[in-house]
Amino acid sequence: MSARVELRREQETMLMTLYLHARDAESAVPVLGDRFAGGVLAQIDYDFARLKALRGNQPIIVARAKAIDDQVRVALAETPDAVVLHLGCGLDSRVLRLAPGPDVTWIEVDQGPVIELRRRFYPDRDGVRTIAASVVDEGWWDEVPTGRPLLVVAEGLLMYLPPDAVRSVVTNLAGVEAPRATLIFDTVAPWVRDVARWQPNMRRASTGFESSTRELEDALRAGGFDREVSSSLVTEAARSTNGALALFIKLIDAVPPGHRAMMLSRWSRVTS
Ligand SMILES: C[S@@+](CC[C@H](N)C(=O)[O-])C[C@H]1O[C@@H](n2cnc3c(N)ncnc32)[C@H](O)[C@@H]1O
Repeated sequence: MSARVELRREQETMLMTLYLHARDAESAVPVLGDRFAGGVLAQIDYDFARLKALRGNQPIIVARAKAIDDQVRVALAETPDAVVLHLGCGLDSRVLRLAPGPDVTWIEVDQGPVIELRRRFYPDRDGVRTIAASVVDEGWWDEVPTGRPLLVVAEGLLMYLPPDAVRSVVTNLAGVEAPRATLIFDTVAPWVRDVARWQPNMRRASTGFESSTRELEDALRAGGFDREVSSSLVTEAARSTNGALALFIKLIDAVPPGHRAMMLSRWSRVTS
């Protein structure tokens, strides 16, 4: 039986990424190849036709997920006993795509209604826990195992939080006792933050972006994190797309505001 979806505001945005992952997987040459998204999508009672207008975003969304998968794979090969915090996980199947080893603790975090839905589609799995909470809440951070390398993934999340909420997430993250904390996250330029709220699907979900690259980087610097690497997701998308859309993305990438429209970054904080 399909699951009816009662989500509010930014929670609904995870259906957008799920839809674009499923579309990519059906395509002749998938970029991400998320073989789980279509099966989850088919069980959700939601008018996905509404999301057709988002198809132009597909190259960026799947290039982002692929780039993050690649970075997490490398990080887990280097630290096979890491604790992974997958913040704002939505219905993403990353843990199935990457199948982490037995010494990894993987924690999926999202808001209550999303986690409730997630639990219907993703059976329990050794080493994987779910936490139903806002990333801004204080309480749940105590549940994060300490003394191990911490790898935090925040994909399509932090831009939805106002700057003070981002600062509180970074403070809580810095408060977890770990020899090394690494955060992989994407950001949007101020002009993207400002125009995104006019996108029809964002308007329908009554949501929008609140923080841009600058506020996120300021919060991380203040929390003792240093930048390890940063790259343009527009460049990534141009590389993995074909045809007329690729040409269009390359044109956007050729101008600095376009190149910096969406960035993927990895920052870390080392304490020992
Ligand atoms: C654009 S979706 C991305 C979902 C997933 N990371 C992916 O890429 O498919 C944004 C997700 O962030 C979650 N989110 C937004 N604000 C949050 C908060 N304060 N605490 C926890 N999750 C939040 C939403 O519920 C949603 O699942």
